[in-house]
Amino acid sequence: MINTLLQGFEEQFGAGGDIFVFFAPGRVNLIGEHTDYNGGHVFPCALSMGTFAAIRRRDDTRVRLYTVNIPQAGICETDVRHPDYVKRDGWANYAKGVLDTFIRRGFAPETGFDIAFYGDIPAGSGLSSSAALEVVTGIAIRDLFGFEGVSQVDLALIGQEAENRYCGMNCGIMDQFASAMGKKDHAIFLDTATLQYEYAPVALTDAKIVIVNSKVKHSLVTSAYNDRRRESEEALKDLQKVLPIKTLGDLSEAEFDAHADAVKDAVNRRRAKHAVYENQRTIKAVAALKAGDLAAFGQLINQSHASLRDDYETSCPEVDVLQQLAVSVPGTLGSRITGGGFGGCTVNLVKNDALEAFEATVLPGYEKATGIKAEMYVAEIGDGAHFVCKR
Ligand code: GLA
Repeated sequence: MINTLLQGFEEQFGAGGDIFVFFAPGRVNLIGEHTDYNGGHVFPCALSMGTFAAIRRRDDTRVRLYTVNIPQAGICETDVRHPDYVKRDGWANYAKGVLDTFIRRGFAPETGFDIAFYGDIPAGSGLSSSAALEVVTGIAIRDLFGFEGVSQVDLALIGQEAENRYCGMNCGIMDQFASAMGKKDHAIFLDTATLQYEYAPVALTDAKIVIVNSKVKHSLVTSAYNDRRRESEEALKDLQKVLPIKTLGDLSEAEFDAHADAVKDAVNRRRAKHAVYENQRTIKAVAALKAGDLAAFGQLINQSHASLRDDYETSCPEVDVLQQLAVSVPGTLGSRITGGGFGGCTVNLVKNDALEAFEATVLPGYEKATGIKAEMYVAEIGDGAHFVCKR
């Protein structure tokens, strides 16, 4: 991949000079969905799939951006002093938003640069291709210009701000955090209220984490996502009238149940129920994993799916088919939709000796039911964003 990236870089921008290559991974979230903007816990891990960036300084103020993944989009150009949002720039806005956020935080690069990207995360699949793009842009800018005051956690925060303020997607911190802070063979147990985190080993001896891509990508994902966030916030406001809480993550299931009536709107009440219960499930799931109780972990994964399907309503019929097929296989310990939702992937915990049956049941069954060929990957948990090489 690195050779293809460098070839693309040189074809577009010419050879010569010092070119630095960086990598930031995608992520899969094991459990803790739509909890990160509700002050709850998440439990994602970085994948070995991700996005590479090659960057080189210029001696003027031009910034040129190119992606080997979408050559027909051509080169996007902006000025390092004012990288303005331009709708037709499409994918490049995620990278420009990161540059814009560096500048707003007082880290203004003194020259322009050329940057090219190449990644293998299927776009729109719920595996955070946009977070990987943001975080790899951030680490490339930080290291090229020597902005030492910017930590890995800052890279995550900068990526999130770029996505919220510049691109208009009000995402939480999970994806960028996992991409910046991931650790090989570990998942990150992150408290999004405090950003305190702990690495938990995911050293499964007799099971695998399997990702199945439904290949479904519903339109209006951003607006539906932003709606969920607003509904949760409205529910929180109602609950704050009767409880001294800062976030939905402050509540236990029993506390929520005792005060659920305070949430006037029935839809908002279901959204809040999901946020509260999912946060508690995440805490329990991490304890189960630590105790080596994969069966309990799997049960919580299944409950997460039901809650996302029925209460949070971020699944979709195709992904529900995938999930049903997955849990019909003896040896599937758990299956659920992962990521923002409205399409994308399921994450599955499957016993090693059931992997063949899983593939033979889920893929053809899904194609029969929907006409779509799903893709399946056994997850490899990799490291967070890092420098790769200099050329
Ligand atoms: C998207 C967002 C995350 C998180 C998930 C849902 O991936 O970017 O911040 O909210 O959806 O858990």
